[in-house]
Amino acid sequence: MNHAIFEKNSLILLIGILIVVSIGGIVEIAPLFLLQSTIEKVQGMRPYSPLELAGRDIYLREGCYNCHSQMIRSLRDEVERYGHYSLAAESMYDHPFQWGSKRTGPDLARVGGKYSDSWHVDHMNNPRAVVPASIMPGYPYLGQRPLDYANVADRMSALRLVGVPYSDEMIANAKADVEAQIAPDSKGAKDVLARYPKAQVRKFDGDTRPDAVPTELDAVIAYLQMLGTLVDFSKYDASGPNLR
Ligand code: HEC
Repeated sequence: MNHAIFEKNSLILLIGILIVVSIGGIVEIAPLFLLQSTIEKVQGMRPYSPLELAGRDIYLREGCYNCHSQMIRSLRDEVERYGHYSLAAESMYDHPFQWGSKRTGPDLARVGGKYSDSWHVDHMNNPRAVVPASIMPGYPYLGQRPLDYANVADRMSALRLVGVPYSDEMIANAKADVEAQIAPDSKGAKDVLARYPKAQVRKFDGDTRPDAVPTELDAVIAYLQMLGTLVDFSKYDASGPNLR
C-alpha cells in the first residue's frame, strides 16, 4: 500500500535505495575498523637480513617482478606446483610487496631451497646453461659487481619508518652483518643467526677465496634461497591460532 509512494516517485525510490544500500555497507565495513590488523601474525616471520634486503633491492632494480610473481594462490594446481598458498603475513615486511601481476616465468614465493647455490649461479649467468628452452635473460654482471651496501643501514631505517621492526642493534650492525652472512667461519656469523633466525650463512656465489667481497650475486642468491622458507608449514594450522 505505502509502496506506491516509491513506485510513483523516482527521487524517493532513489533515496530509499541509498538508505538500504548504506545499511548493507556499514554492516560489511564497520567491523574492519574494530580489527587491530587484517594480517594474522604467523610464527617464523622476521624482517630480511641486510644481505637478503640488498638482494631484494637488486631484484627490484633488475625488474625481475616483470616476469615473476611471489603469490601462490589457494588453487589446487598452484599448491601442487609451488607449495602451500602464500599467507598475507609472508609479505608483511615487503615494501612494496612483490605479488606481481604476470608470470612469464614461474612463481618464486617458495623458490628458497629448491635449487643449489651453484644452480642459481649458472642460471643467473646464463639461464640456458641449465634450462635449455629458457627465455629468461642472463644477468652475468651480477657476479662481477661488488655489492654496494654502504647505505644498507639507511635502507633499513627507512623500512622501520613504515613499520618493519628493525631494532637499533640490527641497524647499527647492518654492514657487519652483510659481511658476516657470507663468512660462515667468522665471529659475526652467529650474531647474524641470532638476529635473523633461519638466515643462511655461506658464500652464495661460489667464490670462496678468503678475501672475496660480497657481490651482487651473493645478495640475489641469499634472497632467492630464503624466499618462502621462514614459516614452518609442518606446524602451521590454517584453521586456528598460529602463535604456537
Ligand atoms: C623476461 C622474463 C624474465 C625476467 C625479466 C626474469 N626471469 Fe627468471 N625466469 C623466467 C622464465 C621464463 C623462467 C623459467 C625458465 C628458467 O628456469 O630459466 C625463469 C626462471 C627463474 C628461476 C627458477 C624458478 C624455478 O622455480 O624453476 C629463478 C630463480 C629466476 N627465474 C629468477 C629471476 C631473477 C632473480 C630475475 C631478475 C634478476 C629474473 N628471474 C628475471 C623469466 C624471467
